[in-house]
Amino acid sequence: MLPGCVKYGGRRRQRWYEYISTMDLEGASVIITGAASGIGSAVASVVRERGASVIGVDRNPVDDVDEYLHVDLLDPASVDELIRALPTGAAGLCNIAGVAPSRPAAEVLTVNLLALQRLTLGMVPKLADGASIVNLASMAGNGWRENLDQVQELLSIEWNGIDRLVENLDLTDGPRSYFLSKEAVIVWTMQHRWTWRDRGIRMNCVSPGPIETPILPDFLEMLGERAQESVRNMDRHGKPEDVAPVVAFLLSDEAAWFRGANLTPDGGMGSHLALKSFGLQ
Ligand SMILES: NC(=O)c1ccc[n+]([C@@H]2O[C@H](COP(=O)([O-])OP(=O)(O)OC[C@H]3O[C@@H](n4cnc5c(N)ncnc54)[C@H](O)[C@@H]3O)[C@@H](O)[C@H]2O)c1
Repeated sequence: MLPGCVKYGGRRRQRWYEYISTMDLEGASVIITGAASGIGSAVASVVRERGASVIGVDRNPVDDVDEYLHVDLLDPASVDELIRALPTGAAGLCNIAGVAPSRPAAEVLTVNLLALQRLTLGMVPKLADGASIVNLASMAGNGWRENLDQVQELLSIEWNGIDRLVENLDLTDGPRSYFLSKEAVIVWTMQHRWTWRDRGIRMNCVSPGPIETPILPDFLEMLGERAQESVRNMDRHGKPEDVAPVVAFLLSDEAAWFRGANLTPDGGMGSHLALKSFGLQ
């Protein structure tokens, strides 16, 4: 029986979703980027409901958090300033901010990957021992195995090399920069499965399918036929509230043995596409 069930065992058997909703984060301090909107905002709500205090980080003001800090993730100086301003001892860092595929390729790769890496590496020394880092990747990153050359090239560059990379890989038009940014987030998260193991700090990522947030229409338009496939096969698109508890789970002690993992709240689309690629139903 799950440990959460023991407490309630005398009354009745606890259902799994009740167990998840009891995973508390009492007393923890959690930093959340992208907290002004969509998934980041939903994560902030769930994390606060479970007892944590939240430092919301965004280029836009964030309501309903304990503290708001401004950052422009396109600007390395702004990221460094944020790292200086953030307190020590946070138990969680959620890298959720991201931009949609229609934005210029350099912006997509910078916000979705380079800033995430810079903030994370800058913050690790300030995080509490045992802290949990959660990165928002995407189902769009599922193809990392097929695109490993590009992913490795992206993961090897410095901030000022982004324009050259966009040119070299011909990423200027179309959604490829978005896919690549998310493939790289998944691989980078895996690469750091054990990097901070001596301090008990773990990093995982979450890869949702299509979620109803302000950037969804942009995805659907940019992805064309691939998006239509999801519309035809899914019962519904996801909501930020479908993703937020998954992030909260990874923050909690119950997820202590997840390291470098990629959790996929995607309404079944990942399984559907994987089986389809093998000609299976
Ligand atoms: N919506 C989806 O269908 C979907 C699916 C899979 C993954 N994701 C990922 O989830 C994450 C959250 O996206 P969302 O759907 O909630 O979108 P959203 O637009 O609602 O939220 C994105 C947040 O990031 C912030 N942000 C963007 N650029 C920034 C910058 N330069 N500096 C500081 N903050 C910046 C925005 O202000 C916004 O608050 C993103 O990483 C996105 O790629 C979204």
